[in-house]
Amino acid sequence: MRHFHSLRVAEVKKETSDCVSIKFDVPAEAAELFKFTQGQYLTLRIDINGEEVRRSYSICSGVNDGELRVAVKEVEGGKFSTYANRSLKAGDVIEAMPPMGNFFVKLDASKKGDYTAFVAGSGITPVLSIIKTTLETEPESEFTLFYSNRNFGGIIFREALEDLKDRYMNRLRVFHLLSRETSEVALFAGRIDEAKCTALCNALVDVEHTDAFYICGPELMIHGVKDSLQKAGAAKEKVLFELFTSPVLGALQQKAEKASEARYSGQSAQVELILDGTSMTFDLPYDGKNVLDAALALGADLPFACKGGVCCTCRAKLTEGEVHMAVNYSLEEEEVERGFILTCQSHPRSGKIVVDFDQQ
Ligand code: FES
Repeated sequence: MRHFHSLRVAEVKKETSDCVSIKFDVPAEAAELFKFTQGQYLTLRIDINGEEVRRSYSICSGVNDGELRVAVKEVEGGKFSTYANRSLKAGDVIEAMPPMGNFFVKLDASKKGDYTAFVAGSGITPVLSIIKTTLETEPESEFTLFYSNRNFGGIIFREALEDLKDRYMNRLRVFHLLSRETSEVALFAGRIDEAKCTALCNALVDVEHTDAFYICGPELMIHGVKDSLQKAGAAKEKVLFELFTSPVLGALQQKAEKASEARYSGQSAQVELILDGTSMTFDLPYDGKNVLDAALALGADLPFACKGGVCCTCRAKLTEGEVHMAVNYSLEEEEVERGFILTCQSHPRSGKIVVDFDQQ
């Protein structure tokens, strides 16, 4: 279940000047709970100067590495990331939810797969886990990574990638793109956008025979790469992406919520919320808070992290009624069809809604 557990920090390792990786000690009794699939993330909670701060960070360890480790890049003004980079140390205790996320394809040891990833900056974190686990689990499979950074010094996990290249010499290709350093080869200069993705694929990727594409980075890059791959004929279900929160998202969300509020003022719904087998009921105006915030304000202890439609931590199943989701950057189409919603984005659109956090 999605509850927090106390984990001791075993190591804080400087990866670059503004990125650390954090290794956790997982007590034997929690080992099963913290088993993860490549590409998943942990939602972490700490108290900084009396304020509770929650964030989700991707796991960078391979499934068979025997360790649980996430990477945290310091972002300007980021409370958690600044704390993690400057103050966190071995021996500290952090609250963590068990691993979550759908950024992976099922692996099969007998498969000869072909995979390609387009990654920017700290987007390498889940992809490192995916590369390690894929090449280890599928001994015949091949992986191509296009990894974009501003400069050489900012390349996170550069050594780890070199080691992997040495280990899987014939099965792993890594191409670095640098946007603020000159490159002798024009193809590897600049950032990854739609045109760059198309150029890279034309030169180096057999799009038609690629089994899965992974994209991890900021929103604009994801859209550009998705568009390029789609035009090149990649099937939609073969393109997986993991979005990192960016300012664009906040603006889009506010716009969507405003439009929705204007149309539905005056109506309200009865909300029944189920968690850990118990239920609570409350009234919620259509144009009021989202389901998550309304329930939190009433004291419910619900899972959440980003509150921006990105991380999926607040996912629950709508078993009765209708809601409007302001944005959805993390639920798959198939999950939405099965009734799952992001409660941090959901506003009621029927007289009664039942939201069940226990159904997964
Ligand atoms: S809390 Fe992250 S999607 Fe709702």
